[in-house]
Amino acid sequence: MNKIPVILDGDPGHDDAIAWVLAKASGLLDIRAVCTVCGNQTIEKTSYNARRICTLIGLDVPIGMGSDKPLISARRMAASVHGQSGLDGPILPEPSMEISPLPAAQLMAKVLRESAEPVCIVPTGPLTNVATLLLSHPELKEKIRCISLMGGGIAHGNWTCAAEFNILVDPEAAKIVFESGVPILMAGLDVTEKALIFPADFDRVRAVGNRVAAVVADWLEFFYHFHRKLGYAGAPVHDAVAVAALIRPELLEYKDLFVQIETQGEYCRGATVGDLLGTTGKAPNVRAAMCIDRAGFADLLVEAVRAYGGGREA
Ligand code: BDR
Ligand code: CA
Repeated sequence: MNKIPVILDGDPGHDDAIAWVLAKASGLLDIRAVCTVCGNQTIEKTSYNARRICTLIGLDVPIGMGSDKPLISARRMAASVHGQSGLDGPILPEPSMEISPLPAAQLMAKVLRESAEPVCIVPTGPLTNVATLLLSHPELKEKIRCISLMGGGIAHGNWTCAAEFNILVDPEAAKIVFESGVPILMAGLDVTEKALIFPADFDRVRAVGNRVAAVVADWLEFFYHFHRKLGYAGAPVHDAVAVAALIRPELLEYKDLFVQIETQGEYCRGATVGDLLGTTGKAPNVRAAMCIDRAGFADLLVEAVRAYGGGREA
């Protein structure tokens, strides 16, 4: 089977990192580039983390650094979730790969231009880089097969009542992406808050016994304890769902919806407003994942770390 060409674009971040572990392990994706965006932490920190993650998992592809701020909004970060480094917890290897001389959107453009087949973009942070790409290279839109993103929530938000973090950080970018006409697979909070990982799951991950498994188990444990304090039953591994949607779509249930991004609201800026009742009469622009086979998702993470070899069998 032909691998799906992809560009990973995120703000790592524990769940971004786990998403990338999954993407590299699956064997179904041909990762052509990694891009970084400012979100969970500053662009310097997310880029440093991206280099450390790529070193850990042996992912040797160009890494394009994004802008140091959203398109229009002031910077907003999530140190309370991911720590001061943006990826607190286990010690990671010092990076063995450098940042590309091409900034993120230009690197994306190069990958698209040079690819014989259309490429999927997997954004797991704010959509600043993807919007910049669409604004600067509208002619390359046809080369984007789909955008499988983590962001938004049809039912509710997590940083405000109405808005999820990735969309809230850069709503103008999200509006450009959602209005682009490119097929969008949306892993919003509706599904990602059901992608819960429990201690029994990260114990299985750890038991695999290799270096990547140990680090992923520590990331999951870190994420679990943070979310328990907020009242979650387990750790929602949001960003990994955007990768699962490409490699194991049967784990998810979807709804096709017309989704608009609120950029003006007094209370709802950054909301992903989904037309659940068809009141707008507009054709769907988004395939929104709404449910996930949680046990299958946990098994997928265990299988993923096994692919890094060298340990005990779980
Ligand atoms: C999103 O916000 C970030 O903190 C996570 O990495 C994820 O992409 C969840 O709202
Ligand atoms: Ca993220």
